[in-house]
Amino acid sequence: MKEVQDHWFKLAKEEGYRSRAAYKLIGIEERKRVLRRGMRVLDAGAAPGSWSQVAADRVGHQGVVFAVDITPIDPGLPENVHRVHADLREITLDDIGGERFDAVLSDMAPKTTGDPMGDHFQSVRLCDDLLDQMPQWLHRGGNMVIKVFEGRDYPDLLKRAARMFDDARGYKPRASRAESVEMFIICFRFNGKDGRIPHQSDAILPKRKPSAGWGADTQA
Ligand SMILES: C[S@@+](CC[C@H](N)C(=O)[O-])C[C@H]1O[C@@H](n2cnc3c(N)ncnc32)[C@H](O)[C@@H]1O
Repeated sequence: MKEVQDHWFKLAKEEGYRSRAAYKLIGIEERKRVLRRGMRVLDAGAAPGSWSQVAADRVGHQGVVFAVDITPIDPGLPENVHRVHADLREITLDDIGGERFDAVLSDMAPKTTGDPMGDHFQSVRLCDDLLDQMPQWLHRGGNMVIKVFEGRDYPDLLKRAARMFDDARGYKPRASRAESVEMFIICFRFNGKDGRIPHQSDAILPKRKPSAGWGADTQA
């Protein structure tokens, strides 16, 4: 296990990526080709920035990447990457350029606690919150990659994604450790819906409201 970690870690150092996570997106791109030249990309949970490095290269100078994270992202990313310090759940499209995206990438993860079930629920919650916002973020026909910690609610999440996209499947890239519970859902061609199945409780319980306080854009 250590050897594999060291391999991707060393490679990232050699090739100038900010973390070994770069090779997860590279692996996804090699097999699935979610990104194309000229795309406008939202990279959710982008710190320290290796997915943004990979995405910036894939979309080229005609494309753009908005890298959003609760943790500040250090400067020095490619010119077509805009860094945004924010909780993604608490900003709107106007805070990040006002134009919908062609692709949304999410490597967002909760702070892990050592409780696998609790971490799984937190991860699914993050994904569900992102899917709720998808009609705001993504053009119809757009693509999405979203990371989740697998567990009890994973099949429901995958089914929800399948209601929102023409094609949605789980994929584990080579650079993701075999013993890790992380899984990536790769989706093509957004249909514009949020994929939720309405529950009776929706009519009774208040909707979660975003709180103010974020939005300080730091631009590369
Ligand atoms: C595994 S790291 C991402 C690594 C990154 N893809 C890379 O290649 O460098 C997960 C990130 O998700 C971020 N995150 C978690 N919840 C978030 C949220 N609600 N909004 C924005 N970022 C979030 C964390 O701060 C953390 O930096």
